[in-house]
Amino acid sequence: MKILLTGSNGLLGQKLTDYYKTQPQIQLIATARGADRYAEKSGYVYESLDITQSSEVNNVLTKHKPDVVINTAAMTNVDACESDHAGCDALNVNAVKYLVTECNNIGAHFVHVSTDFIFDGTHGPITEEEIPNPLSYYGRSKYLAEQIVQAECKSWSILRTVLVYGVVSDMSRSNIVLWAKNNLEQGKTLNVVGDQFRTPTLAEDLAQGCALAAAQKAQGIFNISGRDFMSVFDLVYRVAHFWKLDKALLNLSTSEGIKQPAKRPPITGFIIDKAMNQLGYKPHSFEEGLAILDKQLKTIT
Ligand SMILES: NC(=O)c1ccc[n+]([C@@H]2O[C@H](COP(=O)([O-])OP(=O)(O)OC[C@H]3O[C@@H](n4cnc5c(N)ncnc54)[C@H](OP(=O)(O)O)[C@@H]3O)[C@@H](O)[C@H]2O)c1
Repeated sequence: MKILLTGSNGLLGQKLTDYYKTQPQIQLIATARGADRYAEKSGYVYESLDITQSSEVNNVLTKHKPDVVINTAAMTNVDACESDHAGCDALNVNAVKYLVTECNNIGAHFVHVSTDFIFDGTHGPITEEEIPNPLSYYGRSKYLAEQIVQAECKSWSILRTVLVYGVVSDMSRSNIVLWAKNNLEQGKTLNVVGDQFRTPTLAEDLAQGCALAAAQKAQGIFNISGRDFMSVFDLVYRVAHFWKLDKALLNLSTSEGIKQPAKRPPITGFIIDKAMNQLGYKPHSFEEGLAILDKQLKTIT
């Protein structure tokens, strides 16, 4: 089987590259914007691919004719999407249309990664049946992309995920676990919201979900997240506890109190039974995830 990844320099992209490099029966085409930033450049083919350029999408997909395309590339900075609507539309919506068109042309299955931010967050955890109602520009862009995939793609999986954490080399963006650990290690006081609830997702688990959906060419929407439901304050408290950092540095705050440009859904978190039963998805507990990250932090530069 031949698999093409977009956004292979990102957190999920690098975790999928880690996984596919261990699978000799899979031919991996890793693609990202600009140069390849994956540390050990062997065991896969790399192509530079800016997915906002329809001609590049056409050239690379028709050249390699993958069986499956996994789209991990996105504008993932929620606040940046609020101020750069054109950039967000180009990457999170229009580029998805280009990928869907080319997947249909070459007969490839399309695995698209989406988000809990398509919901308004009045309650949780939620199933795949919940009705989307995004609160932010990012959320709207990801919901529009889902609608394009569902309406136009011939063979597709949409994998929705929640608050992804992990570490890879040369990361362009941090995440909540690394942010909390790094700041607490420097003795900084942190204001953390207690009124947002999530099921945080280890990046390896999200990669596992993508690989299962790709291998099975699974049809439909699947929730792929961690299984532990907690407030963001609880999450950061558990990070402090795990690395034996000073919990007295944590101030309980509210979404109103920390004022971020984009509105976040208060309560999301996913029920993941469908992915566990249909795909064989088995996520780690939150503390198992922290232990995996701890080991990696000792080796990844
Ligand atoms: N992270 C989360 O908490 C979270 C939560 C819910 C859903 N998701 C979804 O999960 C997916 C993967 O997210 P992630 O955490 O792996 O994000 P990430 O680390 O930010 O990776 C996204 C990658 O997309 C790349 N990219 C940007 N513009 C591109 C372009 N024009 N062409 C090709 N690649 C481009 C970025 O490249 P550079 O590195 O060069 O900038 C980056 O490496 C996304 O669909 C995201 O919406 C993430």
